Amino acid sequence: MKTRRNFIKSSAFGAMGVITTSACSSEKNNPPRATENLVRKPTVISTWNHGMQSNEASWKIIESNGTALDAVESGVRVVESDPTGHSVGIGGAPDRDGKVTLDACIMNHQNKCGAVAFLENIENPVTVARKVMEETPHVMLVGEGAYRFAREQGIPHQNLLTAESEKMWKEWLKTSQYEPEINVENHDTIGALALDRFGNLAGACTTSGMAYKMRGRVGDSPIIGAGLFVDNEVGAACATGLGEAIVRVAGSAVAVELMRAGKSPQDACEEVINRIMEKHDDLENIQVGLLALDKFGNVGAHSIYENFNYALTRQDRHELVDSPFKISY
Ligand code: GLY
Repeated sequence: MKTRRNFIKSSAFGAMGVITTSACSSEKNNPPRATENLVRKPTVISTWNHGMQSNEASWKIIESNGTALDAVESGVRVVESDPTGHSVGIGGAPDRDGKVTLDACIMNHQNKCGAVAFLENIENPVTVARKVMEETPHVMLVGEGAYRFAREQGIPHQNLLTAESEKMWKEWLKTSQYEPEINVENHDTIGALALDRFGNLAGACTTSGMAYKMRGRVGDSPIIGAGLFVDNEVGAACATGLGEAIVRVAGSAVAVELMRAGKSPQDACEEVINRIMEKHDDLENIQVGLLALDKFGNVGAHSIYENFNYALTRQDRHELVDSPFKISY
């Protein structure tokens, strides 16, 4: 969708002060570029239209002096719990066996991270990912083990296949053509990045993955370095689109490393998209979108095809922005 909406200057977004502290630890190892905006601007950025509702929840946390970690978790939970979306959480498109399986990860400013994959019957996988990070010595739990862990943590069992998504799956069964499309509804994964008032970054990424995927298929979203990466000394990045293409180049980690090497968030995203395009002979069914946020709150986005958009929220703005892209439809 090519809309550009602006919900600027509502009082809900007007109360933030800018941060000029230097909370990040080792700036001497990563000196700011001369042209960079050196004021740390609390910022939330997330993928697609549904990022608007995610950012709204995230911003409430940032605005009340909460952490970036709480902000991204609270934001993406809203999208996970929305049964009308068919790409994340409850109501997500099932695999070809009719089972909804969810993937998610989360990462904080100390390079701590948690992830779940192939998780069934739990509405908010991002919260389970956070519990993996905080309550276990591990980074990732999958399938039955992830489900059992979630239940042990007091998270309720929930049927995730809504009547609507079941109807769509039954329609798909008539042909059972295994050519799952990505981004057909102008949104898929939600990836969210935040910079809080203390100068700390965090990110989260959550999805039901490719519609009607092979049972057991996992994409980029729960893979630290592919769907999400955060390094508080530099910046953060997240990805959306065809997970296989993103994993092949470690998309989010590479975007952060490019920022470390001096690229702006915008140039880093474009470079990752270039790299994905170079590595694939046939781009016909490969859409990928990248978002990046540096430690000062500067943002970037790029995608292979048009129609990728993202929600951007700061002190004075809350808007949906169209991403630059390489190829028009
Ligand atoms: N980016 C979501 C997936 O490929 O599963």
